[in-house]
Amino acid sequence: MASHAAPHAPLRHPHTGEASAPPGAPSASRGATATLARCRALVEPALREAVRALHPQPGLVAAHAFGWCAADGTPGDGDGGKGVRPALALLGAEAVGAEPEAAVPAAVAIELIHTFSLIHDDIMDGDERRRHRDSAWKAFGTGPAILAGDALFALAVRTLAERGGPAAGAAVRELSVMLGELVHGQADDVQFESRPWSGPGAVGLAEYRAMALRKTGALLGCATALGSVLAGAPPRLTAALDQAGRQWGLAFQAVDDVLGIWGDPDVTGKPVHGDLRRGKKTLPVLGATAAAPTIGPRIERLLSGDGPLDEACVRHAADLVEEAGGRAYALREARTRVSAARDQLRALPLTGPRVDELVALSELFLDRRV
Ligand code: IPE
Ligand code: IPE
Ligand code: MG
Ligand code: MG
Repeated sequence: MASHAAPHAPLRHPHTGEASAPPGAPSASRGATATLARCRALVEPALREAVRALHPQPGLVAAHAFGWCAADGTPGDGDGGKGVRPALALLGAEAVGAEPEAAVPAAVAIELIHTFSLIHDDIMDGDERRRHRDSAWKAFGTGPAILAGDALFALAVRTLAERGGPAAGAAVRELSVMLGELVHGQADDVQFESRPWSGPGAVGLAEYRAMALRKTGALLGCATALGSVLAGAPPRLTAALDQAGRQWGLAFQAVDDVLGIWGDPDVTGKPVHGDLRRGKKTLPVLGATAAAPTIGPRIERLLSGDGPLDEACVRHAADLVEEAGGRAYALREARTRVSAARDQLRALPLTGPRVDELVALSELFLDRRV
C-alpha cells in the first residue's frame, strides 16, 4: 500500500542511533532526527540499566519490546521505537535551563510507561505486530505480556522515586496523575468501539478529542514537563510545557490514526486497517462522516456490519473516507495543534535553542511515516 507521506518525510526508527534523514530533507527535519539520536544516546544506557533489575521473565519480554533481543533471548539490534517521549523530557528540562543529564530519570520513566502502555494496548486492540515484530502477547502469551507491562509500570515509578531530591515527589505525582488520564483515555477508546457512528449514542468529534488528549496527550504532556519538574522549574513553566505536549499528543494521535489506515506496515511495523475492522472511532473516519452528508452513511454502512469485514470492504471504506476528506481533516487537525503549541511555547521565557528543537521535533510528527 502506498504511503501518504510527503516525499521528504524523514522519520525512521533509529536502530543505530544515527541521524537518518535523507540528504534532500529540509534542515529542520534533519535537526530533529539528530535531536532524537542525541537524546537516545543519553537515555538508552540508563534504560538498559533499569530493565536489568527486573525478574528475568518479564525482563525478557521487556528487552524484546525495546528491540534488544529476539523472543528467544538472542541479542539483537531491533526497532526500539522512535524515542519521541524521552527526547521531549530532556528537551523540556533543557528549555528551563537544566542539564539534560539531570532529566534522564524522567526520560527513562516516561519510556518505561510508554512501552508498558504499548504492550497492554496491543492486547486490548488485538494487534499482533509492533515495532516490526510480534507484539508481546503474540510472542510470549497474554499473561506474560500483562505482567511485563506491570513490571515496567512499577519500574517507572521506582526510577523517579529513587531519583531523590525535593522534586522527586512532585515528579511521581505528575506521573501518577498522567497514568490515571491515560487509563481513562484507553477506557473511552475501547468503549467507543461498540458505540455507533451516527444517531443516538454516536461518538462525536469533541468526545474523540477528549479521549485522544487523555490516551496520548497526557503522556506526551507529562513527557514534555517531567524533566523540568525534576529540575525544580516554576509550576507556571512546567504547566505550560505540559499543555504544549498535550497538543502534540493530539496531533501525534491524529497522524497515528491516518497511518493506521493508509500507512505502510513495512514502514510503521504495525498492522494497517485494524482500527477500521474493530470499529475504532478514529479521527479520519469521524471527520469524514461528519463532513460528507452523502458519503458518510455509505462509510457507516460498510463499517457497521455484523460480521468481520473482508479486505475489499475495508479498502473500499478507506477510499470513501479519503474521498470524503477524512484524511485531510485529521492532518489539518494535527497541523493546527502543532502550530498552537509552537505559539504557546514561543511566548514563554524558555531557552531559545531548545524551544527550536522542541518545535522541530513536533513538526516532524506531521510528516512521519512511522
Ligand atoms: C505509538 O507511539 C502509540 C501512540 C500513542 C500512537 P509511537 O509511534 O511513538 O511508538 P514507538 O515508540 O515509536 O514505537
Ligand atoms: C495509543 O493507542 C495510546 C496508548 C497506547 C496508550 P493506539 O492503539 O491508538 O496506538 P497504536 O496505533 O496501537 O500504536
Ligand atoms: Mg493500538
Ligand atoms: Mg489502542
